[in-house]
Amino acid sequence: MIAAYQAKCQAQVDAALEPLFQAPSPELERLYAAMRYSVMNGGKRVRPLLAYAACEALGADGQRANGAACAVELIHAYSLVHDDLPAMDDDDLRRGQPTTHKAFDEACAILAGDGLQSLAFSALLDPRLNTQDADTSLAMVRALAEAAGSAGMVGGQAIDLGSVGLKLDQQALEYMHRHKTGALIEASVRLGALASGRASASQLAALQTYAQAIGLAFQVQDDILDIESDTATLGKHQGADLARDKPTYPALLGLPAAKAYAVELRDQALVALEGFGESAEPLRALACYIVERRH
Ligand code: IPE
Ligand code: IPE
Ligand code: MG
Ligand code: MG
Ligand code: MG
Repeated sequence: MIAAYQAKCQAQVDAALEPLFQAPSPELERLYAAMRYSVMNGGKRVRPLLAYAACEALGADGQRANGAACAVELIHAYSLVHDDLPAMDDDDLRRGQPTTHKAFDEACAILAGDGLQSLAFSALLDPRLNTQDADTSLAMVRALAEAAGSAGMVGGQAIDLGSVGLKLDQQALEYMHRHKTGALIEASVRLGALASGRASASQLAALQTYAQAIGLAFQVQDDILDIESDTATLGKHQGADLARDKPTYPALLGLPAAKAYAVELRDQALVALEGFGESAEPLRALACYIVERRH
């Protein structure tokens, strides 16, 4: 079920993203090519899927979340371009291709990331991609800005880089993971729910509980896959965390306890959805997928 849903949503978000990379003048063709290269390259699109699924869970047509889906993927893609830079994780492989700074150059990769970040907010306000009212748009912009910025993903990345070689305790590790990865996953669910135009406060709260659990589970599984998977499957170098002495869940708890924790988080997410009916099946399937995925 999830494979078919994933394929449908991937096609939907890719069709919405594609027209955003038209260079407005010949001078900007290389910058736009680097932005396009960083996005249209076979990502799993988990964050757009969550936005569509949250919108549908509230009984609305998933298409209403097109702007949200594009925006969260654009922020995510920018975060990966910068994450891979030599000054950060220094990786040369991403989604099975050379990283943006390898395919282009470092300055171009930095600027492509910057451009993608702003493009995310433009996508959230683009009338071709959005149908929500102005108040809802404002709430969506605020949620995305908080999740992407220094109180969210960027803050988490700062903690990550500041923790290399240190031994974090579980509380500190959880704080880092909730920021660097959880915040944008939470925002994906929230933006999708808001885009439905029919989210009640209690539904938003339940969806937030769901999203907090899967957001943490997603990074725990990412850490597990760095040990258990292989480079060809991952599309990025297996063993990169170990090589750089990154603080991770398996490093702290051991592999079996890290896996058990991911499953526990999935179960917490499923409990949070108990008040939702059939329409939340894609969200439930995504919670399972996040801890079962092999890449
Ligand atoms: C990888 O994210 C980086 C993390 C935040 C853990 P994904 O596993 O969603 O990567 P893509 O988008 O499929 O390449
Ligand atoms: C990435 O975490 C988090 C963000 C990009 C915000 P990782 O550094 O673990 O991601 P991968 O493993 O390189 O995809
Ligand atoms: Mg990193
Ligand atoms: Mg990395
Ligand atoms: Mg990782």
